[in-house]
Amino acid sequence: MIIDPNITTYIYSIEPDGDPGLEALRIYAEEKNVPVIRREMEPFMRVLLQTVRPGRILEIGTGIGYSALFMDSCLEHPEIVTIENYEPRLQEAEKILEGHTNIKLVKEDAANALKELEGPFDFIFLDAAKAQYMAMLSDIRRLLPKGGILLADNVLQDGELIRSRYLTPRRQRTIHERMREFIWEMKHSPDFETSLVTLGDGIILSIKKGI
Ligand SMILES: C[S@@+](CC[C@H](N)C(=O)[O-])C[C@H]1O[C@@H](n2cnc3c(N)ncnc32)[C@H](O)[C@@H]1O
Repeated sequence: MIIDPNITTYIYSIEPDGDPGLEALRIYAEEKNVPVIRREMEPFMRVLLQTVRPGRILEIGTGIGYSALFMDSCLEHPEIVTIENYEPRLQEAEKILEGHTNIKLVKEDAANALKELEGPFDFIFLDAAKAQYMAMLSDIRRLLPKGGILLADNVLQDGELIRSRYLTPRRQRTIHERMREFIWEMKHSPDFETSLVTLGDGIILSIKKGI
């Protein structure tokens, strides 16, 4: 937790009731231990999406399709391309997204899928394997037009990112190193303006510079 749990509880408590279908899907995901965006991300993303009004959205990391449906609910049926490579989730996502003709599910590893995609996407939501954010950045750069928005989730890894390397289990060290490299690149790259925001599990919010 990077935020005082009491603050998070307060944020949850003031949220008006949302879409009942999405709420049921969130409860299902929580019961099945399937990752979905944290509740406190939703009002933030809603305001952001309604400000940017993207016509084309790219999501990297579909899960079972919760966030794709959530983004769809924020706008008037934008085109959403969402990528997932984990077979059991793909099967669920396919059923859950059925009938949403504006949402295209790409069933492939994002490392390959991104290379085949044609931009521009006005809004990219990066929510896949955390160790791969840095490796995906060159394709994200290509697919994002000037003025386009990149939102990357879970960048602070429950605060563990700033824990001493020696206190971090070996298997997580590489993930943390790559994430720190990604954050550094986003903060120092001349073609992005970036804010590291302590919302949820930490997000990177970037705009590609230029008009
Ligand atoms: C945090 S979950 C996504 C949750 C979803 N965005 C939501 O909020 O409903 C991350 C997903 O990314 C998928 N993923 C991870 N690495 C991937 C890759 N290289 N290509 C495609 N999907 C990937 C995982 O299988 C997992 O389902």
